[in-house]
Parts: sequence; C-alpha cells; structure tokens
Amino acid sequence: MSHPFECKYGYFSDDGREYCITTPFTPRPWGNIISNGDYSLMISQNGSGYSWRGNAGQNRITRSFQDLIKDNWGKYLYIRDRKSGAFWSATFKPVMHPYEDFLVVHSIGYSRFIQVIEGIRSELTVFIAPDAPVELMQLTLTNLGEDTRELDVTSYAEWALGFAPDEHREFHKLFIDTSTDFTLNAVFARKYLWGFPDEHGRYNNINWPYTAFMAVSEPLVSFDCDKESFLGMYRSEEHPAAMDAQHLSGRVGRFHDAIAALQVAVSLAPQQSKTVVFTLGAAEDEKEDAAALIRRFTSVEASRQTLQAVHDFWSRFVDGEHVETPDPALNFMTNYWLKYQAISCRLWGKSAFYQVSAGYGYRDQLQDSQIFLVGDPSFARKQLLMHAAQQFIEGDVLHWWFSIRGGGPRTNCSDDLLWLPFILDAYLKETADYAILDEAVPYLNAPAEPLYDHCKRAIERAFSRFSPRGIPLMGDHDWNDGLNAVGTLLKGESFWVAEFLYVILGNFIPLARRRGDECFARRCEDVRVSLKDALNRFGWDGEWYLQATTDAGLPLGSHENDEGRIFLMPNIWAIISGMAEGERTRKVVDSITRYLLKDYGTLLNYPAFTKPRPDVGYVTRYAPGLRENGGVYTHAATWSVWAYTLAGEPERAYEAYHKICPPNRSADIDTYKAEPYVTPGNVDGPQSEYYGRGGWTWYTGSAQWLHRVATHWILGIRPQEEGLLVDPSIPAEWDGFTVRRRFRSAEYEIHVRNPEHVHRGVKSLVVDGKPLESNLIPVFADGQKHVVEVVLGRKE
Ligand code: GLC
Repeated sequence: MSHPFECKYGYFSDDGREYCITTPFTPRPWGNIISNGDYSLMISQNGSGYSWRGNAGQNRITRSFQDLIKDNWGKYLYIRDRKSGAFWSATFKPVMHPYEDFLVVHSIGYSRFIQVIEGIRSELTVFIAPDAPVELMQLTLTNLGEDTRELDVTSYAEWALGFAPDEHREFHKLFIDTSTDFTLNAVFARKYLWGFPDEHGRYNNINWPYTAFMAVSEPLVSFDCDKESFLGMYRSEEHPAAMDAQHLSGRVGRFHDAIAALQVAVSLAPQQSKTVVFTLGAAEDEKEDAAALIRRFTSVEASRQTLQAVHDFWSRFVDGEHVETPDPALNFMTNYWLKYQAISCRLWGKSAFYQVSAGYGYRDQLQDSQIFLVGDPSFARKQLLMHAAQQFIEGDVLHWWFSIRGGGPRTNCSDDLLWLPFILDAYLKETADYAILDEAVPYLNAPAEPLYDHCKRAIERAFSRFSPRGIPLMGDHDWNDGLNAVGTLLKGESFWVAEFLYVILGNFIPLARRRGDECFARRCEDVRVSLKDALNRFGWDGEWYLQATTDAGLPLGSHENDEGRIFLMPNIWAIISGMAEGERTRKVVDSITRYLLKDYGTLLNYPAFTKPRPDVGYVTRYAPGLRENGGVYTHAATWSVWAYTLAGEPERAYEAYHKICPPNRSADIDTYKAEPYVTPGNVDGPQSEYYGRGGWTWYTGSAQWLHRVATHWILGIRPQEEGLLVDPSIPAEWDGFTVRRRFRSAEYEIHVRNPEHVHRGVKSLVVDGKPLESNLIPVFADGQKHVVEVVLGRKE
C-alpha cells in the first residue's frame, strides 16, 4: 500500500496532518518545532534538540550546539534490561541500537517515536502543555515477549539556564545549583547568574529568575545531577558510565557540570504495557511554583488530558479554514503544515535547526502574523500593536528586537517601517476593525499616539529618503538584507522600495480620507504618481526593471552586469504594484520566466555572484546559488505566484507554486534533502554543486506566504472591505475545489465547479440559493453558515 508522497524516508498520513518517518537516516535532521507561545522545544527524528522559554538565545533551558551533521544534543531517555544489561534509547540517538521496528511521527503540537528493540516496544510522545511552561515525555513500554522483563528507564538532559550558545560553559557551570526532592520524584536546577544588568547597570549580578525541573511519574530509584559521574570522563551519551552501574550516583549541589538524570524501575509481565511520564520545565519564580507544576502534570492521567488539550489548542488555529482541491500537496500544506510552521516556529518558537533567533524581526513577524487572520485575527492585531511599539517618533523602527527586555539595532533599512501599514491593510480587509487605527501605542522615544499616526510617520519617513530622481534610497538595505553595502551612503536607490511604497500608498489613501486627513491623502497621491513615473523612467533596463543603483551610481540587476544581471523582486513587484503597464508587463513576465523560473522555483537573482563585491554586500559573499545569492529564496519565490496570477498567467503561477510546494520534492528527496512537510528558506540555485537542495527549514517567512498565495491568489478567495472576492487562477484540468473559512464571524462554505475547464473567470455565483451579479460574496457577520456555489467558465 502506498501512502501520500511516500519516499524512502517517510510519507504523509492520509489526511496530511501527520508526517511519518521510517528511518533515522534522513538526509538532514527532520524535525518538529513545538511551542505554546511561551515554552518551546525542537526535536529531530533522532530525538535530538533542546528547550527554551521566551526565546532560545536569551533563555535556553537545556544545552545544545548547532550541528546538523552530528545532530547529537538532546534530552534522552535510556531503557535498560536489568538482567541482561542491554540498553538502548527511546529515540534512535544517542545509543543508536539496531531496531526491529522504527517510526517517528511529527505532527501539530507533538512528536511520537515508536521503536521495537530487544522485544520491548517503546512509544514516546513529546508535547508541551498549552497553558504552562512544561513539556511532557509520555513513554509507554510494552513487553512483546513471553518472559517477565525487569527494566529501568533513565532520563538525561544538560542544563543551560539562560544565555546560549554557552561557549563559556566552564564559567557558567559555576553558578548552577541542583537539588532533589524524593517526594516529588524530581530534581531542580537554579542559576545564580543571568547575563542582564541589575537595576544599577551592573552585569553578572542577577539570578536567573526561574527554577528548572525534571520529574517522573514513578517512584525515583536513583538520580544524578553531575555530568561527570553520569557519562564518565572521556565517554559520551552513546554509552554512558551510568549504563554500566547499578544505580545513578546521587550527586547534587553546586560543584558539578549540571545535568538532570532520573532513574525509575519498570517491571513488565509478558504482553504487559506500562506508561511512565517525565516532565521538564522552568517555573518563573515570581509567578509560578515548580512543585505545583510537577504535581499538576507528572502523571499518566494528566499526560493523557494534556495531549488532548494540545489537540484542542491547535485546532483553534488550524481548523478555522479548510481547502479541498485536486492537489494534495496544496491541501496538506495549506490546511495544516504552513499554519503550524508559521505559528509554532516563526511566531512563537522563533528558532529552528538552522537558525536561533532571540527576538522578532520588524518585518518578519508582522508578515507571519497574517497567518492568524482567518483562525483568530486578534493575534494579528496584537502583533501589529507590538511592532508599532518598536517605532521611534521619527518614523523609523528597530530592525529587530529581543523578546526579553527589548533592545535591538536602529538602522537605515529602507523597508522595515513600511511593513506596518502594509500588514495593517491585510488586517483591515479581513476584519474591518477600523477601531485599531485609534489604538494608542507609545514610541520607543515618545509618548503614545494612535496607530494611524504610527503608519503615517512611517510613510513620511520614507518620503524623506528619496534620491534627487524621485526613487527611494536603499539605505542600509531593503527587503533583501544581503544588499547591505549598496546604499549606506544614502545615495544608492532601491527600485523595489519604490514599488512597495506605491502599493502601500494605494491602500493608505482611502484610510487617510476616512479619517478626514485629506491633505495627507493628496500628498500620497502626488507621490504615487511621481513614483510611477520615476520608476518607469529610471528603473527600466530594456527587458526588465533594475534592482538598485549603488552609492557610486552603478546599476544593479541590469544587462550591463555580468553577475546579478536580473533580480526577481523589482520585477514581480512591478506587476504586483501595477506600476508596469502594457508592453512592459509582458516583457517583465517573459524575462522572469526566461531567466528566473527554473526547475525548483523562481531564483532571487541570476547569474549568482561568484566574487565578493564590497559595493553590494554580503549577498555576493555567499557561494553562488546559496540563499539570497542566486538561489530560490522561498519567501520571494511565493510572490512570483502572486505576480503570475496578476499578469494573467495562471499556468505559470501554478508551476511556480508547484515547484516550491515541499511535498512535491518527495519525488527527488535525495536531491532535496530537507523535510517535505515545511518550507525551506532556500533551495540551491543552478550554480551550486547541490542544485535543488533545500535548506534553512522551519524558521522562514515563506510559510505564511506560501499559504497566502495558495488561498488568495490560486484559489482566489480574497477579503475586501465589502466582502469576500472569488477570483480563482487554477489549473484548467481541475474540476473544482472547496474552501471553508470564517470571515467576519460568519462561516462560508464555497464550492467552486469548473465544468468548462477554464483557468479563470467566474460565470455564476449563488449565495444561499440566491444568484449574485458580481463575484463578491457580501459580508454577513451573523455567526451563521453560508453556502456559496460558484461556477467558472466563459460568460456568454
Ligand atoms: C531573512 C530576513 C528577512 C529578509 C530576508 C531576505 O529571511 O529575516 O527579514 O527580508 O532574509 O534578505
């Protein structure tokens, strides 16, 4: 029997909600990033990974170093047969014992590890309580044999407790204090140092204000808080000294390299099963009680209830919208994985195997927050207000900021600030919550003003940074962070920012009028006209638009360049913004297709840079084909789908989508290497030795956008102020599709049929049995369900 998108490493479950991995030897760690918005963990198919609270840079709980090849830092459970001495681990790492059966399931909010080794079936489920800083490891052991088995189970994790990476471990370990409590079957760890200054600005002078713990649901037989006695000098997790000893050494206190290890006994009659639950967490001392958390979660019954609570919790974010199309890759990604990736990893966990982030990127998490718009827009609202608070009265913003205690770089980046009005527009179209414009939000350096003024100040600041030719300055860089030397002298120009600003002004003008700000509305109109004129006058290169000019006045993304001759961004946004017209639209689309739409998606530029150019920036310093240097940068590649639909090329739109939709890469998985259930940040371009290799998975802004281009631009269901527009651009072979989604408190079930097999064009639209003249479904906002029947075809 074959499963959806089956490859030699795994497959999707039939409904697409789970990804099943059948071997430990995936070509890269294939992981899961689980978060409840506060407490997070990452875990690979081998069981490696670590935990953090708030963010993984400033407040890591267990240790880990980034190493995708070894994938060897984890919180592990050992299982040992006390009679034979044989031992293995509940995940493949660290012991790597041969197995009779192996299956790892990653899904929405949990990961499950099933193995059969030495006649014992183990099933380990890892998840986080939705409402507490506690992770649970629920381990069920089953004796498959005919003899009673005397086993023990031993946990192992190394404490980090605070800032990471901890290259100064020898310093930091001196501040950790461990203790034990046999009544709670638990060990605790505290640290008398956190790398923030105290109230007088003195560093290295405050406690880490948490108590970390590990506890177990069975009576504690023995424990250890010392890495040296547990592993043994010069040994490793694969075969620790503890597995040669009767019991753990019981060392505890302030003089060790601190770990948590708990040992319990499990006796299993033939065919008997037993579940043991380990909990690990970090209680904030001022607000939470570690002992209370241990009591609440460390039992078999509590673990079952908590796992059910995890399913309910995620259902709220995932199940508010459901699509059914003839494309299972689109369905699986849109319905489950992209929402989960964007929320659990990008917005909440903020870290993954390829990147550890300690905060929010100004533009990044604003864009990501669009993922909440259907399921629960109040989360997008919160995100908008949170980002507005990272702005200065001068209109500019922090490029990113730490999520604990704030702070971050104030730069001359040219686009960051503009994402506030851009995402606000998406929020308003979805919700019509115009009250948000009056929300008073403080600036970093000035008292509060309404959100409307924050947006206006951002736009005004952008107006103050134009070249004499009327093109926005590049400044420290635009959306492409790697263009970080093009315009630092405030002479170089960004044609993409011109286009981005043009879109924003188009949306903002009606908002300004709505608030009676006629003067600003007019000003925006004037700037819009001059931007369009200037872009078409100075940004046109003959067959496509330029990306930029440098401080020295050299063109970038021009036929005059040997490397970086054409860039994707200014060309797709020329279409998205509507600034390219007539013949130019055609030429631009043809150039994108000809030079950039390749085997694995649209490239960010071509040809890649092969030599560093100090006047351009770090994009030229990557090996050719990697990341922003001539690779498929998935985030931007999703926008090419949008551009193709607007340019009236639905087949190309679908092609550009299909090539970057991860399950489709199961077919050449050894080329791709990355997880086929989440988006990668990038795929290597044609000049790489590994053309087609996916990398930088999970922590990428492409997840939310891949979701959005599928729902808004391929399926074409787009919220507008006055209703829900139906304007699909689909493959002609499709017989139709269904979308169920919420919109302004009503439930819409939209059935689209395509009997004439066209790509686009709504022939008729019937709402609750009543035919409508237009393809705009009205707003009901009545909490009721409405059935919409749409037929595509040519109008008579
Ligand atoms: C990274 C950044 C994002 C930027 C992109 C392109 O993903 O987080 O903000 O736009 O790179 O350089």
